[in-house]
Amino acid sequence: MKRCRICDGPVRETLDLGRQPLSDAFIDPTAPPGPDGEFFFRLGVGACESCTMVQLVEAVPRERMFHHDYPYRSSRSDRMREHFERTARTLLDGVRAGPDPFVVEIGCNDGAMLAAIDTAGVRSLGVDPSGRAAAVAARNGLRVRTDFFEESSAASIRAAEGPADLIYSANTISHIPYLGSVFRGVDRLLAPDGLFVFEDPYLGDILDRSAFDQIIDEHFYFFTVRSVRATARRFGFELVDVERLPVHGGEIRCTVARAGRRPPAPAVAALLAREDALGRTSGPAFRGLATAARRIRDDLLTLLRTLRADGRRVVGYGATAKSATVLNYCGIGPGLVPFVCDSTPEKQGRLTPGSHLPVRPPAAFSDPYPDYAVLFAWNHAQEIMMKEQAFHAAGGRWILYVPDVHLV
Ligand code: SAH
Ligand code: TYD
Ligand code: ZN
Repeated sequence: MKRCRICDGPVRETLDLGRQPLSDAFIDPTAPPGPDGEFFFRLGVGACESCTMVQLVEAVPRERMFHHDYPYRSSRSDRMREHFERTARTLLDGVRAGPDPFVVEIGCNDGAMLAAIDTAGVRSLGVDPSGRAAAVAARNGLRVRTDFFEESSAASIRAAEGPADLIYSANTISHIPYLGSVFRGVDRLLAPDGLFVFEDPYLGDILDRSAFDQIIDEHFYFFTVRSVRATARRFGFELVDVERLPVHGGEIRCTVARAGRRPPAPAVAALLAREDALGRTSGPAFRGLATAARRIRDDLLTLLRTLRADGRRVVGYGATAKSATVLNYCGIGPGLVPFVCDSTPEKQGRLTPGSHLPVRPPAAFSDPYPDYAVLFAWNHAQEIMMKEQAFHAAGGRWILYVPDVHLV
């Protein structure tokens, strides 16, 4: 049996998604293949029987995922940029009381959130190992340390900059297997009454939506209130507030303070009670996801094969990291989906990992419109459907596979 990365308790595996590539390892078809070919690992998930934290059973070395050329760019979504602007306004209200407040962002990527903090006139520093993304932020005048946040880097930030009043992180803390080092780093860096706020996919939403594609190499942990509270306590902190967010298919924002500094808001107990009632942290709810994944795979393959037999044109929309799990789990290649459009220049001209679908710019979508488009970026459905209204107006149909395979 595997051991929990946080508490060393036994981890019982509940879902095996098989051999998978790195979800953001887009292939340059013009470059000679490396001596070892594509990197694959086994994507399995389990729950710790002791602290309840749901986690991958195999961790990919961090440098393989988060390196200089990591292609994800936060600023590709207008809606997410607005989300960060709103978040900055709310969080900074509580930070601005003291003189010269200081905010650190873990996983700042291209600076979508840092820009909003900067606009508010608050001193900030981003930490992110992805050099090219960080360089985009730096070009916009934002300060970034190109590094992994962990105990040692946190200590050196503290020495150079003083204590942080707020440590914020979006879609990153769940990516970090070595959470103990992160919490020890937060302990070193955070001011006595400072807050550590992070938002990540919520296991409750993943189960409700059967969103098995949220399971990728980069998403190492799947948070619940119960598991985050246990983790915070283990490292001398307390979960003092939680909020559910509609972004990225359903997330939870966790606010953590040093133990004994703030009373937990009623939302913590309320959501905890809901999780218990729904059996969120026990095996059966989670095993339902395995059944749903198989059903989605069968239905999606049947639909795509029928459309191909009928001579319909189908393309993909959004070369998401999540799409790697769906494409490779279902065994979908260019024979069923000839290409996928994506607005990220760093992904265009490349092939999707494992499944090898060419990635083309969004202009290829209307040239001419296909009959059907598989929306791999389903978490951005509203934004993308709005942008591509002409596709639907011309008779095109979106294929969605969460929570089940259906047409829009
Ligand atoms: N916060 C952004 C980016 C999320 S992508 C958003 O919500 O859109 C995850 C980011 O975390 C990547 O840019 C990756 O390089 C970074 N990351 C991974 N491990 C990290 C670590 N230990 N410390 C800081 N950043 C890390
Ligand atoms: P996202 O779902 O945010 O994350 P992940 O890769 O972790 O699953 O990725 C969204 C992808 O969709 C990203 O590659 C950019 C692309 N995209 C578009 O092509 N057009 C759009 O309008 C939006 C919002 C995103
Ligand atoms: Zn555990």
